[in-house]
Amino acid sequence: MTTFWSLYVTVLTLGTLFCLTWLLLATRKGQRADTTDETVGHAFDGIEEYDNPLPKWWFWLFVGTLVFALGYLALYPGLGSWKGLLPGYGYVDNDKKIAFSDGTQGWTAVHEWEKEMARSEARFGPIFAKFAAMPIEDVAKDPQALKMGGRLFASNCAVCHGSDAKGAFGYPNLTDNDWRWGGDPQTIKTTIMGGRHAVMPAWDQVIGEQGVRDVSAYVLARLAGRPLSEGTQADPVAGQKTYATTCIACHGPEGKGTPAMGAPNLTDPTGFIYGSSFAQVQQTIRYGRQGQMPAQALLQGNDRVHLLAAYVYSLSHEIKVEKTQD
Ligand code: HEC
Ligand code: HEC
Repeated sequence: MTTFWSLYVTVLTLGTLFCLTWLLLATRKGQRADTTDETVGHAFDGIEEYDNPLPKWWFWLFVGTLVFALGYLALYPGLGSWKGLLPGYGYVDNDKKIAFSDGTQGWTAVHEWEKEMARSEARFGPIFAKFAAMPIEDVAKDPQALKMGGRLFASNCAVCHGSDAKGAFGYPNLTDNDWRWGGDPQTIKTTIMGGRHAVMPAWDQVIGEQGVRDVSAYVLARLAGRPLSEGTQADPVAGQKTYATTCIACHGPEGKGTPAMGAPNLTDPTGFIYGSSFAQVQQTIRYGRQGQMPAQALLQGNDRVHLLAAYVYSLSHEIKVEKTQD
């Protein structure tokens, strides 16, 4: 803060307190000391006011708030660049200066937050770094790492994947072993670091309405093994032909999917994130889908993502957790 603004804030703040004190004393001046039956002479909706002095408790309460304000302003930073008499409002360790993002020093709410981050980085950074140097499979056996990973998951991933990581409509279940992008530890980490953008094209313009019905029937009845209800107007045999020309490139000849492009396995309907009813599958094929997993590299950084990957990996693997010494 420049000297001008510092003075401006100081003069305005102290000036206001001074004026309030003056107002209080000026109002009391000339007041009688005893109570009276006389009124001040005005009425609001028939309510009149006795010409009595300010109640003592009220007067002293007001004085108390003024004293409190002055004490507060002396102890804490409030008057311009005044740092306050209490320690801890200047720098991290009072004498050790820390490089704040805006290049200035002194107390601000942003600096407070940055100090807290610096403190936690100093405390937890080495622990994260230790785990980041270990293979993900080994991290997934460490109870402390899983606890930390679980907390990171709860605050960053649970909004979409659910607090039990079992997913929801449009968000995949991370506790089964059915992976859209691949389930080995390194691939899980790549998914979390860089995010994923799945593109299932819309087919209504290409294969027509009957084509959508037929290929949906083929996917459900033949690939996913879900019998269609009686009287469904669709021909799985015609659908199979459409599948062979239109869908095979991404979902594969047996419908097992292609992890490289996030094309899911169509033989296991429990893994369908957009629903597995005849209507829902038609909807997916007719209009396409674009699932987006947001990249975490910039938000979390490598070390935290490493822990997250280990946590996610542990959810779908029976892992014998090693006993730690401490
Ligand atoms: C904004 C919602 C959202 C958030 C937040 C989110 N995800 Fe995802 N995630 C998705 C979606 C959507 C997909 C599926 C993408 C697709 O359609 O292929 C996905 C896919 C994944 C996959 C791949 C699953 C597979 O079958 O291959 C993993 C692993 C994953 N997320 C982990 C995480 C972790 C760990 C976090 C927390 C750091 C996280 N996600 C946060 C929406 C989210
Ligand atoms: C260009 C590659 C590509 C082609 C071609 C393609 N798909 Fe897909 N399909 C995908 C991808 C990628 C997804 C995942 C979309 C997502 O996660 O948002 C997907 C998702 C689906 C789903 C949803 C599964 C779920 O989890 O709910 C169904 C059903 C499906 N495709 C069927 C088909 C059929 C039938 C065809 C042929 C008419 C077809 N796809 C052609 C790439 C493709």
